[in-house]
Amino acid sequence: MASNYFGKAFRFTTWGESHGPAIGCVIDGCPSLIELSEEDFLYEMARRKPGQSKFTTQRKEEDKVQILSGVFEGKTTGTPISLIVYNEDQRSQDYGDIAYKFRPNHADYTYHQKYGIRDYRGGGRSSARETAMRVAAGVVARKIIPQVEIHAYITQIGEVKINKEDFNRDFINQNPFFIGSPSSVKECEEYLADVRKRGSSVGAIVELVAKNLSVGLGEPVYYKLDSQIAQGMMSINAVKGVEIGQGFEAGQSEGINVADEMFYENGKLQFSSNNNGGTIGGISSGQDVIIRVAIKPTSSILQEKRTIDIHGNNTTILTKGRHDPCVGLRAVPVVEAMMACILADMTLLNKMVR
Ligand SMILES: Cc1cc2nc3c(=O)[nH]c(=O)nc-3n(C[C@H](O)[C@H](O)[C@H](O)COP(=O)(O)O)c2cc1C
Repeated sequence: MASNYFGKAFRFTTWGESHGPAIGCVIDGCPSLIELSEEDFLYEMARRKPGQSKFTTQRKEEDKVQILSGVFEGKTTGTPISLIVYNEDQRSQDYGDIAYKFRPNHADYTYHQKYGIRDYRGGGRSSARETAMRVAAGVVARKIIPQVEIHAYITQIGEVKINKEDFNRDFINQNPFFIGSPSSVKECEEYLADVRKRGSSVGAIVELVAKNLSVGLGEPVYYKLDSQIAQGMMSINAVKGVEIGQGFEAGQSEGINVADEMFYENGKLQFSSNNNGGTIGGISSGQDVIIRVAIKPTSSILQEKRTIDIHGNNTTILTKGRHDPCVGLRAVPVVEAMMACILADMTLLNKMVR
């Protein structure tokens, strides 16, 4: 089924497999006359890139984005923008076992059952290599909403809760854990080193804040801002939960304690709190959009587990190869990119309303 695209007004389609010659995306709906060059992609692609530290997979990819269409003399032309990244580090022999065995928690079994064929090299299309192109689309999306600030960071790695007291936004990109707390770095290092030593993996929670949004983004009722956030974030590999504002705490709250009261101060609308996470009725309120995304532990682990093979036999599997002990860390730029694409889409759609 045609299901490899996201968005209505700002639409991107990704294509390609982990161990094929290249991956890419086509962005349709980007307005004309926006400055865009291949250099614009370098920073975000480097942030997502594997092999950045000993806590992420050592697969080495340059991840250089090449623009094939939609840009003339440094500006978008309003026609489809086609982007390509060549895969350089395709050591498929690392994945030999999964040609006929299904890794528990990975997409091997479901892809095989659904399609009757699967590219087992490195997970094929189910590999998070695909998320590189979401990051590339996010770079273009951010250009449509330059006033919006989007930043995500890790608030929890397995058992380690990141200290909120010394949160420093500038610190997020200065450490391999994408955390905002300098005082939590050592604990993360020791914890993840131990997880890796035990051949295990851990989950993580990514929090994202989007600032400077206008009121009115979101198309009720089936294309609400919150429903698109949920869909977009859940479509990222390994995401198992999405919370907006209070999230699941809302189910335990009393109405008298959580009203986001409204009042004018010096002629400006103010809210007493932001329990709704910046969206009410599926439309942005102008407050910060605040979400949290839960990411499961990497399924590829260095411990033998029971599984089945493609011939219907019981067997066991131990996944060798290069894997992150915590894929949640690498998801931070991906979560930001998805939010940029959602907000760019909603911004363009809102222009059609009045
Ligand atoms: C940035 C990123 C990197 C990932 N890297 C790996 C990896 O190295 N090994 C692995 O087993 N899973 C990895 N995953 C997760 C799998 O792609 C994912 O669990 C798998 O496709 C099954 O899909 P599901 O977990 O969404 O159900 C990664 C996910 C993300 C977001």
